[in-house]
Amino acid sequence: MHWFTRLFRRPKQLELTADLRRRIRGSFEEAARDEEHFPSTIDPRIYHVQLILEQFGDLAGRRVLDAGCGKGRFARVLKERHPQAEVVALDLAQAMLRSVPEGISPVCASMTSLPFAEGSFDAAYATESLEHAVEIDIAVAEICRVVRPGGRIVIIDKNAEKWGRFKTPEWERWFRREEIERLLARHCSEVSSRFISYWEDVEPDGLFLAWLARR
Ligand SMILES: C[S@@+](CC[C@H](N)C(=O)[O-])C[C@H]1O[C@@H](n2cnc3c(N)ncnc32)[C@H](O)[C@@H]1O
Repeated sequence: MHWFTRLFRRPKQLELTADLRRRIRGSFEEAARDEEHFPSTIDPRIYHVQLILEQFGDLAGRRVLDAGCGKGRFARVLKERHPQAEVVALDLAQAMLRSVPEGISPVCASMTSLPFAEGSFDAAYATESLEHAVEIDIAVAEICRVVRPGGRIVIIDKNAEKWGRFKTPEWERWFRREEIERLLARHCSEVSSRFISYWEDVEPDGLFLAWLARR
């Protein structure tokens, strides 16, 4: 798609009214039944998983937050790899959390208002969930707030330059590299971003971006 068309098809910033919040939650409560598009497992070789594991290092005795975990497919791998870690899986939709495996703590809440104390996690990540948070700056600030100084943060989401590739709900947003870098830099150091693909040896096609930061 031409850049000009894409630019004008980008959604406007929506206001997160009570009605919109209800519709977003309702849509994901419903989507939890769709195992094809919202799977409960992920191939651990997928680079999105590998990158998070690599960034976080040894998690034994550490506390990690998956913000917008869905059915906990990433959290499942983290817990399998690091059984001594405390993994907290947070999602807006209770129906998604029913699939979160035992041994992981499910929490039903919004990433725009995290029910955790400041600095109470050693690391946090959000994969394809920030795009649904609507109040993006608040969600990023909240993720940063709950991570202790020195802790790692990973956000994986879609690139605004590729907007229009899929049909998306009215509230969904994709991001420019500098947009999330700027939001992270308000609270973190060592902020960077890179294009990623599902497989490490496959050249990224520009759809997925990973943002990395140290609190
Ligand atoms: C596309 S799914 C991704 C799920 C998971 N991160 C994964 O990669 O499998 C998006 C998830 O974000 C959740 N979500 C949307 N808005 C949210 C919010 N404000 N706070 C927490 N979770 C939210 C949805 O309920 C849904 O489970």
